[in-house]
Amino acid sequence: MTLQACKGTTIARIAITRAVSRALEHCELTHLARRPIDLALARRQHAAYEQALRDAGCEVRQLAEQPDHPDSVFVEDTVIVLDEVAVITRPGAASRRGETPSMAAALNGLRELVHIEAPGTLDGGDVLRLDRTLYVGASARSNAAGITQLARSVAPFGYRVESVPLRDCLHLKSAVTRISVDRVLLNPAWVEARHFPGFDVVPVDPSEPHAANAVLVGEAVIYAVSCPRTAEALRKTGIDVRSVDMSETEKAEGGVTCCSVIFSA
Ligand code: GLY
Repeated sequence: MTLQACKGTTIARIAITRAVSRALEHCELTHLARRPIDLALARRQHAAYEQALRDAGCEVRQLAEQPDHPDSVFVEDTVIVLDEVAVITRPGAASRRGETPSMAAALNGLRELVHIEAPGTLDGGDVLRLDRTLYVGASARSNAAGITQLARSVAPFGYRVESVPLRDCLHLKSAVTRISVDRVLLNPAWVEARHFPGFDVVPVDPSEPHAANAVLVGEAVIYAVSCPRTAEALRKTGIDVRSVDMSETEKAEGGVTCCSVIFSA
């Protein structure tokens, strides 16, 4: 599948997702209280999210459900895919480490694979790529050894890694994501804007702390309906915001970026 992307180039994109685990209600929670999750609704919402990815031009490849891994729908945490290499992570939550082998299998043949090894830990949700820099949240999930291993793995391909301090949120991409070629959407209460030089910083609406998480596909931004004020502000600046309802996976402390891994075919 191809689409017209920024600056007239044509890019084929693959989005890897995973079927929602029947065990989702037993997910890891760090900053949220546990609330009942409607599994059937979560699956319908996830299907709509996958359709939004298709509508934005991605070929969606859904991995099989992992009934024993509650958080496995959050595929973003298991890998960082660059054009030249894929880094299979070692998630910071021990309960999530069984999610990575099937992601490695899915990428076999598409990318050279390298692996984060113990004692390193790294969650893909902590890794924000802005051009040739990988910003990595120094969170409770991604430790110094994991960040160092990532830096060593990607340096041969011309990427630089910058560790970024966070507060009060799970992952770096809870606090900041890219929304266009030259803009990032950011919650200043969770991460400081000064870490992202060269990008215009759009702050979230102060009443919507979770609003900084957005999926950029070409020029489309897939975005949660739970943050309507920030969405409206983005639309007013000309951003093509595509709304999706992710209420059930949000209860599991996952945002829109968490549910896919998107890369050039
Ligand atoms: N529930 C998402 C995570 O903690 O990884």
